[in-house]
Amino acid sequence: MKIIKSIVEMREYASALKADGKSVGLVPTMGALHAGHLSLLARVRDFCDKSVMSVFVNPTQFGPAEDFAKYPRDLGRDCGLAESAGCDCVFAPSAEEMYPEGYGVGVSVGPIGDTLCGAARPGHFNGVATVVLKLFNIVSPQAAVFGAKDAQQVAVIKRVVADLNVPVRVITAPIVREADGLAMSSRNVYLTRPERERAANISKSLFEAKALFEGGEQSVERIKERVASIINGALMKTEYVEIVDPASLRPFDKVIDGAALIAVACRTLESKTRLIDNIVVDCLH
Ligand code: PAJ
Repeated sequence: MKIIKSIVEMREYASALKADGKSVGLVPTMGALHAGHLSLLARVRDFCDKSVMSVFVNPTQFGPAEDFAKYPRDLGRDCGLAESAGCDCVFAPSAEEMYPEGYGVGVSVGPIGDTLCGAARPGHFNGVATVVLKLFNIVSPQAAVFGAKDAQQVAVIKRVVADLNVPVRVITAPIVREADGLAMSSRNVYLTRPERERAANISKSLFEAKALFEGGEQSVERIKERVASIINGALMKTEYVEIVDPASLRPFDKVIDGAALIAVACRTLESKTRLIDNIVVDCLH
C-alpha cells in the first residue's frame, strides 16, 4: 500500500492509475479508523479498481470549543488497518500542505448546513464541504464513499456535487454498529464505562421509532417524544431529535408521509461526548 503525504505526489499517483485505465475511488476520513471506515473501503471496491483513503483531521470543520486537539491520531495504526482492508493508497497530508499560508477561499453550503448538527456547530459543514472538494480536486476520483452515519454530511456533499457540477459519483454505505447497536464512531473512545453501557439506548430509541412507525404511528411529535424519552432516560441529553426529508433535510410537519430520516444528536453527562445516530423509515416498507 502506498502512503502519500504531498498533494503533487497524490495527483501524479492518481493520474498514473487513470492513464493505466484504472478507475479510482476515494474514502475521505479523519483517521482513528474502525470497522465503519473499513466498510467504506469494501464498498468503494464495488465501483472502482483502486481505492484511496484520505486520513486528515481537518481543522476547518472543528469549532473553537471542539475536540480538534484531542481527536485521536495514530497514522501507523490507521495505515496498518487500511492495508489489511485492501486499501491501495493512504493520502495523509499535513495541515500546512492542505491549508498553506495565505489560504482563504472556502465553500459555503447555505441553509442545508444550518439545521440538525449545523445548528450547534456553525460553519462545520462549510469546513467539511471545503476539505472534501479539495480532496476531490486532488485525487479526481470517479466515486467517493460516505457513511450513512453522518446523514447530514451525505446530504451536504450531494448538494455540493450537484450544485457545483463536480464529476464524482457519491455513494452511501450503511451504518456499522457495535454488537449492542451503538453506531461505531472515533469518538466512542471518549465514553466512560457506564456511559458506554448506556449509549446503546441511542440506537435502541431509533429502532423503537422505526417499529412504532411500521406499526402505524405516523405522528412526528409522538415518535420524537418516544426517542427523546429513551435517550434522556439513559442519562444523556438530547441536542436534537428531528424527522426530516433525507435529501433536503426539511422537517416533516405533523405526520410522516414519505421516506424520512430520524436523526438524533445527544451528549453524555460525564465525559460530555457528543454522539449522533439516525435511521431511515419509509412508508413503502
Ligand atoms: P470521519 O468521522 O473519520 O468519517 C469518515 C467516514 O466514515 C464518513 O463518511 C463517515 O460517515 C464514515 N463513518 C463513520 N462511522 C461510521 C459507521 N459507524 N458506519 C459507517 N460509516 C461510518 O466524516 C468525516 O470523517 C469527515 O467529516 C470527512 C468527510 C473526512 C471530512 O473531513
